[in-house]
Amino acid sequence: LFDSVELAPRDPILGLNEQYNADTRPGKVNLGVGVYYDDQGRIPLLSAVRKAETARIEAAAARGYLPIEGIAGYNAGAQALLLGKDSALAAAGRVLTTQALGGTGALKIGADFLRQLLPASKVLISNPSWENHRALFERAGFEVGTYGYYDAATRGLDFDAMLADLKAAPAKTVVVLHACCHNPTGVDPTMDQWKQIASVVKDNNLVPFLDIAYQGFGDGLTEDAAVVRMFADLDLTMFISSSFSKSFSLYGERVGALTVVAGSKDEATRVLSQLKRVIRTNYSNPPTHGGTVVSTVLNSPELFAMWEEELAGMRDRIRLMRKQLVEKIQEHGGKQDFSFVLRQRGMFSYSGLTSAQVDRLREEHGVYAVSSGRICVAALNSGNIDKVAAGIAAVL
Ligand code: LMR
Repeated sequence: LFDSVELAPRDPILGLNEQYNADTRPGKVNLGVGVYYDDQGRIPLLSAVRKAETARIEAAAARGYLPIEGIAGYNAGAQALLLGKDSALAAAGRVLTTQALGGTGALKIGADFLRQLLPASKVLISNPSWENHRALFERAGFEVGTYGYYDAATRGLDFDAMLADLKAAPAKTVVVLHACCHNPTGVDPTMDQWKQIASVVKDNNLVPFLDIAYQGFGDGLTEDAAVVRMFADLDLTMFISSSFSKSFSLYGERVGALTVVAGSKDEATRVLSQLKRVIRTNYSNPPTHGGTVVSTVLNSPELFAMWEEELAGMRDRIRLMRKQLVEKIQEHGGKQDFSFVLRQRGMFSYSGLTSAQVDRLREEHGVYAVSSGRICVAALNSGNIDKVAAGIAAVL
């Protein structure tokens, strides 16, 4: 039966974890996967999460099946974070949200539904994009192309190429856009550029799929939702995949959401009914624990405030690590100007290291990065930053 089965390549991001775990060298550093570690190198358990979990355990609640679309309070909370509590679209019944298995699960539900709806459409992702975007949409049956995004020469956005490619895309092309903290580059368009992007999306009748997995890691929860809200203000129908994996430090609980803004309340009802079919035929309904914890925090003013403060703490520490990395690479003799790291946003930095340099960094220094040169700044700490900076300076 399996004679013809080929060995699949390791996943470019999660496969690195396997390699890292098998590495027996002391002092190894994992800057591969997008996970926030505290200054002691631990994945934090947030106090707001701990309180919500304790309350849940004390309540000794039964674990029945959730509705196919998940917990109502979770979905409402996720939606309010994206569109604001007083969204006119939500009040008009034009927005629907389903709980999803992380941001990846949200993308997959959306992709499967879109493939049914638009079988002749192509998907465009940024060049470069999150490693899993192409694979995920291709698996759903789409042909996936790219739009210009990163300019290696300026280490910034190639806005002209981006706009030209979006302008050239046929109507109904699905365009995956990173609403904040672009993964992997950390380079985001300015708000003025976003307005121009949105107007091309609208004029060309493109289908925006906003991916927002790092809300709160740029400037704050509300600030980072500005692009989503601007698209909503333009009355664009759209898909939004969001995630609490990073912002709640609940990676393994698979807490994400898919939100769709439809053209009318009736459309929203019909779209939700189809998304429920996609979910039911894939995994039936979502798990209870992580969703309940997040829902409890989002719907308690006291826990919400606590969470927001803890999130700000993570954001500030990442900024400090960016600053120190730039300084320390210089201290260790790195000749190149690394100040671009300070302009990048979110958990990642597109370091400019080549794949050969990334290999040397891993083999000679025990520092793991994605072969594209992406490093997770959120995994740096006062104990490993010197080693990382010295390694980078040495391989440059
Ligand atoms: C990442 O980009 O490292 C994260 O989003 C984790 C993942 O699933 O790839």
